[in-house]
Amino acid sequence: MSDQQVDNSKRRFLLIATGIAGAVAGAGVATPFIASFFPSERAKAAGAPVELDISKLELGQQVTTEWRGKPVWVVKRTPEMLANLPKLDSKLTDPTSADSEQPEYCNNAARSIKPEIWVALGVCTHLGCSPTFRPDLAPADLGSDWLGGFYCPCHGSKFDLAGRVYSGVPAPKNLVIPPHKYITEARLLIGDDK
Ligand code: FES
Repeated sequence: MSDQQVDNSKRRFLLIATGIAGAVAGAGVATPFIASFFPSERAKAAGAPVELDISKLELGQQVTTEWRGKPVWVVKRTPEMLANLPKLDSKLTDPTSADSEQPEYCNNAARSIKPEIWVALGVCTHLGCSPTFRPDLAPADLGSDWLGGFYCPCHGSKFDLAGRVYSGVPAPKNLVIPPHKYITEARLLIGDDK
């Protein structure tokens, strides 16, 4: 074999080897990229964000999803529900949510990005039961001044429709608002706000 022939076969080998390495590297990049679009059950449990379509949610309704193994509520509040919130301030432990957990963009009177759509962890801040949605006005069991909210059946804590806790109940803090954002007008991403 001449020197020229040796050089040519070396070049061919190097070109093929480079091609294989490129394909392997490409596959290595592609796999996690695709996986990031479809979080596994384990990733979801570990905290991957959850998408929720709220296009069918009607005024006054609540829907529950799950993030990090915890229930997340989304409530579409009516204008009347929103108008009732300030009327409750004097009955609450932390009416301005100064000592409660919510993202900066929900640090307002309605504790939400858009006033009507409210997102919260459905976990009582006492010992972690999941309170019951009670939007009914003045029911016999909750009293004539009940303007709608959440009732925790475990030890009787009460929260209003912004998740603010009533005074004199076991739960010490308002319900937690998780990070979230709108992907579109009708799709929420819960667990990520970047
Ligand atoms: S866990 Fe809700 S009141 Fe105790």
